Amino acid sequence: MYKLYPYFTNDGSVGLFSPDADDIYHSTYGALTEAYEKFILPSNFKDYLKKNNEIKILDICFGIGYNSKSFLNYLLNFIYNETIDTNKIKNIDKIYTNNKKYKVYIHALDNDKNLALLSPFFVTNKKILKNNNLSFYNEKIKKMLCDKTEPKYILRKEVNILLLQKMISQIDEEVIRILNSKEYAPYFDKMMINLLPRFGLLKNSNGILYPVCYLVSFLHNIYYKYISSSYKTAVNALKLLDFNFDLEIDDARQIVKNDSTLYNYVFLDAFTPAKCPCLWSIDFFKELYRLLDDNGMILTYSNSAAVRNAFINAGFFVGKIFSESLNKFTGTIAVKNKSLIKYELSEYDLGLLKTKAGIFYRDENLSLTNEAIISAHKKDVENSNLISSSKYIKMHKFI
Ligand SMILES: C[S@@+](CC[C@H](N)C(=O)[O-])C[C@H]1O[C@@H](n2cnc3c(N)ncnc32)[C@H](O)[C@@H]1O
Repeated sequence: MYKLYPYFTNDGSVGLFSPDADDIYHSTYGALTEAYEKFILPSNFKDYLKKNNEIKILDICFGIGYNSKSFLNYLLNFIYNETIDTNKIKNIDKIYTNNKKYKVYIHALDNDKNLALLSPFFVTNKKILKNNNLSFYNEKIKKMLCDKTEPKYILRKEVNILLLQKMISQIDEEVIRILNSKEYAPYFDKMMINLLPRFGLLKNSNGILYPVCYLVSFLHNIYYKYISSSYKTAVNALKLLDFNFDLEIDDARQIVKNDSTLYNYVFLDAFTPAKCPCLWSIDFFKELYRLLDDNGMILTYSNSAAVRNAFINAGFFVGKIFSESLNKFTGTIAVKNKSLIKYELSEYDLGLLKTKAGIFYRDENLSLTNEAIISAHKKDVENSNLISSSKYIKMHKFI
């Protein structure tokens, strides 16, 4: 039976634990905060949205969707704050034709159907965090959790509604069963579950939700009829958004191989290279090169020399992501247009790429298992004449 291992991260959003990997999907620091600081802020969407009204995003490893949600949240805030003033929003029908409409396409990929389809239902912005009854035990994680918080970024409710509307035809009985489970009830937003009947999912005599038919109502009908009046002003601004969303459930390599869309942004949020090398290989990156617009940008949280070297060998220019709030480098960007790089790799970073740490993963036909990729990589490292990264780091300490 499918099991989830949820907990509240320190910004009041839900994070997940993976017992298989004995690791977390999301930072205890805050799942939503992490998405904002590692993917959204470094993307410099503000400048992009001022110059363009169309955007295509590839969200690799959608999981429970924080990166896409944070982008949509950012975009809505941008529309509310910068495109139209509050008085005008009240009179949306008049301004509708006079303002530019953002055309947004998100292609979301993950191989875990349940996680992705549960995405719109997870609670965010929780202030009192009850983590005393977790379904997993991990001392390190437990020590890092807090019980009260002031969320740093607030996720607008309409972001989840937008996603639900796009995913509703994929929701199946297994997802409904998880949503009905008492065990997970604290982690799901009841308002979102209560919207389900409007999409053709009804409660039976035992109060259990089940699908009747997947007749998708029009977005504005749902908003106007069932959402409290306090949302209506905000919801009106959604008319300025032409939102297309495709969620594909499969190995991301297979989806990417068959894709031909040109993306402006790619979020790469796979498990670490040591756990999921199939999404960090030079061969996978070559496919991403084909799909990236000339002025596009790939963002990832990884600082690994092997990842950076694979990007460079796949044809990209590579730079670093700097987090102002954490005052440190928190990831990597890969671009075709070098002028988009704000923080270049230092001499030291470039030197590290020429050590054993820079030996990248290979997966020529995009079909190997993670284990096979790891084992071939281990052999490449053993047979290499390059110096080890530890020797390189030691040498640098004395320079
Ligand atoms: C670190 S989590 C991503 C977290 C996510 N961005 C979020 O906001 O919740 C990694 C994700 O990669 C997915 N995954 C692992 N291997 C994959 C593969 N080969 N293809 C597609 N998705 C994969 C897992 O199901 C998991 O959801």
